[in-house]
Order: sequence, then C-alpha cells, then structure tokens
Amino acid sequence: MISKWLKTNSIKDLKYFLKDKKFKKIFLLTGKKSYHLSGANKIFDRMEKYKTMKFFFKSSPYPEFKELKKLINEIKNFNPDLIIAVGGGSVIDYAKIANLQGIEENFEKKIKNNSYKIKKKISKLLAIPTTAGSGAEVTANAVIYIDQIKYSVEGKELKPDVHFLIPELIIKNPKKLKSSAGFDAISQAVESIISLKSSNQSLIYATESLDLSLSNYLEFIKKPTLNNCKKMSIAAMLSGRAISISKTTAPHALSYPFTSLYNISHGHAVSLTLEKFLKFNFLNSKKSLSNFNLNDRYQKIFKIFKVRNIYELENCLKKLKKDAGLVDDFKKLKINIKSEYHNIIDGVNLLRLKNNPIKLAKTDIKRILFE
Ligand SMILES: [Fe+2]
Repeated sequence: MISKWLKTNSIKDLKYFLKDKKFKKIFLLTGKKSYHLSGANKIFDRMEKYKTMKFFFKSSPYPEFKELKKLINEIKNFNPDLIIAVGGGSVIDYAKIANLQGIEENFEKKIKNNSYKIKKKISKLLAIPTTAGSGAEVTANAVIYIDQIKYSVEGKELKPDVHFLIPELIIKNPKKLKSSAGFDAISQAVESIISLKSSNQSLIYATESLDLSLSNYLEFIKKPTLNNCKKMSIAAMLSGRAISISKTTAPHALSYPFTSLYNISHGHAVSLTLEKFLKFNFLNSKKSLSNFNLNDRYQKIFKIFKVRNIYELENCLKKLKKDAGLVDDFKKLKINIKSEYHNIIDGVNLLRLKNNPIKLAKTDIKRILFE
C-alpha cells in the first residue's frame, strides 16, 4: 500500500476550508435521512450564522430526472459561490450535473440522444461522501434515471473540485448501507482490473483499493471503528479513481434495472451478478477483446482475494456477500427472473457492456441470469 493514500480529513479541516471569505453564498445539497444520521447537521446548521445558505434535501432513493429539475432551478435562482454535496453517490451525482451551466435546456432530449454539450461549471463543488462508497467524489461522470432508464453524463467539468473524506460522518451508517456501498467499491475495483479500458494507473488504484476494502469490509459492517471507516473511505475513493480511467463492466451494466425497477440499492444490485460475470469472462478468456492478457489479470485478482482458481473466487465472493448480509437469490428478492428478464435486459446500459473483456450476446446474459 502506498502510504500517500492513507489520508482522510477531520471535521476541523472542513471547518477551516469553509471559513474562507470567498465563500459567501453556499448551496448545500444532502439526503433527507443521511444529513442527520451522519452528524453532518452538527457541522452545517451552525454555519447559517455567518454564511448565506440554502439547503436542498434529496428524497428519491436514486438520482432521477424530476428531482434533478427542481434542484437545477433552485441552484440557478440562488446563484451560489460554493455547492456542497454531503451524502452518498446519488447526492454527489445530482450536484455534479446541476452544477453545469445551461444543462436545463432540453435536458431530457439531449441526455437521451447523448447530444449534450457541457459548458462551464456554475460554482466550485465540494463533495463530502457520507458512505464508503461509490467514489463519486473523484469521478467525472454522473448517473441519472429518466423514466426508470439509466443515463450517464460525462465530462471533466463534472468532477468535484475538492473532496473531504471524513470517517466520523460514515461510522453511524446502518449496516445495510455499509454492506451495499462497500460492495460497490469492491466490485468497481474488480471490474476495473479486467475492463478493456484499464491502464497501468487504473490497475494500481484498483489493487490498492481492494487491499484496503477486502481486509476491512466485514469489520466495517459489523464492528465499525474510525479506523476501518477511514480505510473503507479511501478504498472507495481509489475505486472511483480506477473506474474514472477504466470504466465499469457487465455487473454494473446489469445493475441499473435492478435499482430502478426493484429499488435494490446500487452496490447490492451490482453484487447480484459479479461472480457470475467474472466466471463467464474467465471461462471465455480465449475470446478476450483486450490488448492485455486477461488470464494474467485474473491471476492478479486470485492473488488479491487469496484464492487459487475461478471456482474458489466464486465461492469467496458468495461467502463475502452472505457474511455482509447481501441477499443474492432472485426468489428471496421477489424477482421472477424468468418472466421479468425482458424488462431487465431492456434497461441494461449498453455503453458499460462495451468495456467487458468478452463480447456478451443477449443469450449469454440470459443464461448468466438464469443460472
Ligand atoms: Fe458503482
């Protein structure tokens, strides 16, 4: 582990940053529940005494268009000199999109046609994740659902200008949130290692992320301490850096309809198919489209997970999910996969499937889901 990553921030650091006189009008975007649960309210409620502040409380469980529209209007009317996003991946994603100048003009049409042009940012954006996490604080893209279909907005202007990782804001997360968010970080890093767009740099980020997450994930859920919250926050941030370069692959592409149709939280939705696609890719590695040796990458993953082969990796991930309380049986989740398969496949993000090292036909996905 490169020790330069092992840094997080304190509440004191944040207060010092916010004291800066150039921030006069602050727009604070946060989650209805997470704001109080994380203890962020204790930091920001007092700030109203010496800054002009406007609060927006997100209520939708995932980032959706109608709520985003309201947020865009409020930011436009308030015209802040600093936007602070305090929350999970959805809150940070909302802020990243709403902070783009002129994004409201024909937004729906442009996002659907992928024909949007990003101008400048409205103001400086500070991201403070209250989950560990999606790594959204360091990525240059954001997710938005329109009519239950997932779209992505991408561009360097989306990347937050500053982020603070504060373990104190994560420690009180409910177990369910910790297991889902933490698994997202794990899956992002694993997917990054085999993604067609991976590079030497993304490999470093992903490997370091997994070194931290795998040795802290279960303790973080069951016996949270400031130390394991710190490690998981860094793991999540590094997984964000990894996928900023490599993008994600099939388990992420398949996850979005599970979130929008069945309300399964993002990390949990990703966990439903991770080991299944890892096995499929490995068993078809001769057909790999990568310019790297896919088998070598799998050896790397085996080493990180301390397993000898793909079957042990599969069992290891299944056990990890079980220990983390992530149910992966479609029946138990009340999803009739056979009758609802078409709805799921219609909502799949084809762009993310393109980064999978093995080309996936719809019949492959069907077989993998029915397994
Ligand atoms: Fe993710």
